[in-house]
Amino acid sequence: MKLLIDDANVAKIKKIYEFYPVDGVTTNPSILAKSGRNPYEVLKEIREFIGEEAELHAQVISLDADGMVKEAEKMVSVLGKNTFIKIPTIPEGLKAMKILSARGFKITATAIYTPMQAYLAAKAGADYAAPYVNRIDNLGADGIASAKMIQNIYENNGFKTQILAASFKNSNQVQELCAYGVGASTVAPDVIENLIKNACVTSAVQDFVTDFEKLCGAGKTMLDCE
Ligand code: G3P
Repeated sequence: MKLLIDDANVAKIKKIYEFYPVDGVTTNPSILAKSGRNPYEVLKEIREFIGEEAELHAQVISLDADGMVKEAEKMVSVLGKNTFIKIPTIPEGLKAMKILSARGFKITATAIYTPMQAYLAAKAGADYAAPYVNRIDNLGADGIASAKMIQNIYENNGFKTQILAASFKNSNQVQELCAYGVGASTVAPDVIENLIKNACVTSAVQDFVTDFEKLCGAGKTMLDCE
């Protein structure tokens, strides 16, 4: 499972990249709005930092296919070929996906709340489909079960489209889909950090240091304990 950062805060992205093995960055208009900055300014800064080969996902705003296609053309020209154009999975979006996939654009079908949206997005040529796990949970449905059903639909029908699961609020949601083998998950920085945050681990590691220092002296490591 690929792991992407779902954020547009460049400082937070840099911090996650320093420590965690991640594959790229996803954004949406609401995430960009939180930055309070010009969207292209932010996205160009993210692209410059993550490099040409990393995945950068950014969303169109138009609600009609023609507008979506024009936005996609500009976004790829500014942000580079490895930019995945996030397109809402509505009828106009499916039309845009068919046009853009035929022209070789990379597409992430987004705003997916139901497995049938994901099925139609795959048929329209999307590379990724992004089910909103936590938002589905908040509807009283089961986001994990929906994502698993989408994975089954893709595998059982021979689609190449991958799941890019989104809208996570806790580690267990990410873990469930990782175990199920979905293609990718995009996760906010605080939830990524929580994947490994564990007081038992911190305590165990500190115990090793304390025991070693009892043996060799305070501040000593394997570098200078001879
Ligand atoms: O882009 C989709 C995803 O990031 C939505 O997440 O936290 O707004 O439900 P959230």
